[in-house]
Parts: sequence; structure tokens; C-alpha cells
Amino acid sequence: MATTEQRLRDVQTPIRFSVNGRCASVSTSPAQRLSRVLREDLGLTGTKVGCDAGDCGACTVLLDGEPVCACLVAAAQAEGCEITTVEGLAQRGPLYDKLQKSFLTHGAAQCGACTPGMLIAATALLEKNRAPTENEVMDAIGGVLCRCTGYRKIITAVLDVEGGRSLQATPDAGQAVGNRLVRLDGQGKVTGAEIYGADEIPAGALVIRAVRCPFHRARFRFGDLDAYVAENPGISAVLTAKDVPGENRYGVISKFADQPVFAESEARFRGEAVAAVVGAADVIERLDLAGFPVSWEELPPLMTIDDALAPDAPRVHVDRKENVLVRGRVVCGDVDKALTEADVTAE
Ligand code: FES
Ligand code: FES
Repeated sequence: MATTEQRLRDVQTPIRFSVNGRCASVSTSPAQRLSRVLREDLGLTGTKVGCDAGDCGACTVLLDGEPVCACLVAAAQAEGCEITTVEGLAQRGPLYDKLQKSFLTHGAAQCGACTPGMLIAATALLEKNRAPTENEVMDAIGGVLCRCTGYRKIITAVLDVEGGRSLQATPDAGQAVGNRLVRLDGQGKVTGAEIYGADEIPAGALVIRAVRCPFHRARFRFGDLDAYVAENPGISAVLTAKDVPGENRYGVISKFADQPVFAESEARFRGEAVAAVVGAADVIERLDLAGFPVSWEELPPLMTIDDALAPDAPRVHVDRKENVLVRGRVVCGDVDKALTEADVTAE
């Protein structure tokens, strides 16, 4: 039987709203995320998606003038509303021009992934308050995460929006050393025009849906995967651990890498991927995984460090004795002595 989510996904409703001053009409599920409607139906890829969960703020847009996470707004909630994305900020008067320049001058747009969300959040603040305090700026942009700048440059850029300073794109001959430069690729980042990997999907590209363990720990067996592919038009393949070339594990530090791409026969946590169904985008979008041929045998989970360190605890990874990844020792010397003897100290 179709789930409520499935039924909602299958309904296509015309939804009308205004985006960046223009009327837009899309036919989509009322439950579709506004971020997806903007990016995939309307091609406004300046709005980024980092988490799809309301955590990162990369998808922040203005909805009737208020900043919202577009990934948490259902398309139906946008009916009749005025949406502004980063691509439309330029229409909101000279303030945005100053804000863009300030971001470039202060190096506030680095990789640029957070920049559209930051610019939207800052615009929402500055349209109400042209001379905010530092705390007000921090509050306003607090819902948007940045992994590059340490936030200081962004806060300074917003505070200095009326400063009117802008850097020369190229310093005069002989003046380059010690001079700040505007990033050569900065402009696209502050207009939302920069294209990232997730912003361009080749026509006809296949997509995947991961099949994930519904228990904290479980053994699993697949049924006939070839028959599943053959019986489901639009599905091209099912990938499992057997399809991973080389070692089925990944991690940032190779010695510690122990996370498999797909679990093999036993899944260690709820949500661990055991397979991926590959197929046409519209088929995968509507795929009901209730029919996927996998059977689960729930096992007692290890939910705490103490559970995992108990002498009779099952091994989470066969090659990690006592469920310990690494043991180490940190030794601290005499800090005061080292400072006293240092040639130079800085505070
Ligand atoms: S993508 Fe919307 S908050 Fe992260
Ligand atoms: S500039 Fe890279 S995340 Fe903010």
C-alpha cells in the first residue's frame, strides 16, 4: 500500500507564486521542497542545498520579505507568495550593490557555498535596519553555516555595507605585495551565477536511491535483485557491496577508514546504506522501496560506548579488536617554562 509520502509525491498540482518579481507557475507535488522547485523547475541554482534538513541555511530565500529555509517550505506553502532568491536581490535597490561590493572587499565570499544564504539573511536584516550592531548581524546570519571564513569577514562585510570601499581588481604595478585582492572568481559567487557540481545535471542522467537499514543493527539478505531490475521498468541496476571496486571502505585517514560504501550482510546503524537503486530520475523519484527484495533480522544494538566496550560485545568491525579504533596518549609539558624560554611570545 502506498505511504502518505508516496501519495503526496504522486499528486501534481499547479502552484503559482512570484519569483524575483516575475509570475511563476509550476506543476508539482504540494509537498515538494521549495528549494527543489526553485533549482530544478525554475533553474534558479543560486539557491544552494547543503542538508535538506533546515540545519545549514544554504537554501535561505526571502518569502514575503522574511528569510526562510527553502528546503523546509512545501511548494504549496509558497502559493501566492513573493519569493526572492539571490538572483533577484539586485532588483531590491542599491543596498544589494553595496552588500556585494562589501562581501568582495572583505573576502566574505570564499568557496561561495554559503554566500547566497548569507546575502539573503543580511539583506533581510539591512532592509529593516541599516545600522545594525555586531550582535544583530550575528543573530541575522546565525542560521547560515560557513565552513570557510570563520564568520568574521562576513560580519565585517555586513557591518561595513555603507563603507563604500571597494578594492581595485588588480593593484597598480609595484603595489601587489601586501595588497588585498578581490577574488578573481568572486563576482559569480555574490550574484549566484557560479555553477557548482550539483547545479548542472546532464540531460538524461540516471539517479540513485539508497536502500538503508531500518534498525540500529541488523543482518540482511537480498532476494533476487536481477528479477527486481527486470520487473521494474526505468530501473537500470541495483548496486551492492559486490559492485564496489577495490576495498569496500572509505575514510579521510586511510589507516582508520572503516566505513563501508555498502554494508555487507550486517548493518551497524540505522540508516546505513546496503544498496543503491539506479534508474531514470522520474522513476526513482516515485520509487516505493517497500517492494525492494531485502529481508532483515534485527540484532541487539550497541547504543553506548559502555555497550561497545563490554567484554562480550559483538565486534562492530571485524578488524577492530575490543571495538576500539585507536589508542593514544597525550603528554603535556611545562607550558610556563616553555613560554619563559621562548625567544618571542605573542598574545
Ligand atoms: S539545505 Fe536547507 S537548511 Fe540546509
Ligand atoms: S564561503 Fe565557503 S562555506 Fe562560506
